[in-house]
Amino acid sequence: MPITTCVFDAYGTLFDVNAAARLLATEPGQEALAAVWPQLAAHWRAKQLEYTWLRATAGRHTDFWQVTQDGLVWALEACALSDPVLRERLLALYWELPAYPEVPQMLSTLKSRGMNTAILSNGSPDMLAGAVNSAGIAPLLDDSLSVEDVGVFKPHDSVYDLVQKRFPGDRADVLFVSSNGWDACAAAGYGFTTVWVNRAGLPMDRLYAKPQHVLSDLTQIPDLL
Ligand code: LAC
Repeated sequence: MPITTCVFDAYGTLFDVNAAARLLATEPGQEALAAVWPQLAAHWRAKQLEYTWLRATAGRHTDFWQVTQDGLVWALEACALSDPVLRERLLALYWELPAYPEVPQMLSTLKSRGMNTAILSNGSPDMLAGAVNSAGIAPLLDDSLSVEDVGVFKPHDSVYDLVQKRFPGDRADVLFVSSNGWDACAAAGYGFTTVWVNRAGLPMDRLYAKPQHVLSDLTQIPDLL
């Protein structure tokens, strides 16, 4: 069956999660941040995701904004940068993360071919709205689906079910795209046709399924259809 719907993970896939630390590090007066920003960004992202998995396993859900804040507090302490002003600046930037450069053209091509397009993300609805509007891609998306509608984080099957409810049809007719290897593997296990966008050149995660496609960025997504 042909692909009818293209669904994208948000953070790290459409939006550059490292941009908050990277951009702030270029400002005058941010020399301490400039010295460690890649490490800070990596810790922040790793802890943010770790907290989603731990909370899902423990059955203690909170929203993605809370785990984003908790992950940053841990990361700042690990980098000896525990400054409340710096924390607030970084958190504010998370609401307006830039999209990767190829995103608008890629989505526009998908829409011109009649595809349904949507985000499926751990992000809370207000966080997703902030990022989508700030990147100017709202007209190119039919919907932003948030785990808040099911109260558990990825990769729980009930999250991927949100796509089925919004765009009924065969699971294999959905092209699910994520730069998070574990998300792409889990979505493949669910039955979506999946793409792992391996921007960082990482090894494939060893999970219960593998994505059908591996790309280095989003430019070739329309070629898969
Ligand atoms: C998301 C995280 C996993 O957007 O990047 O769901």
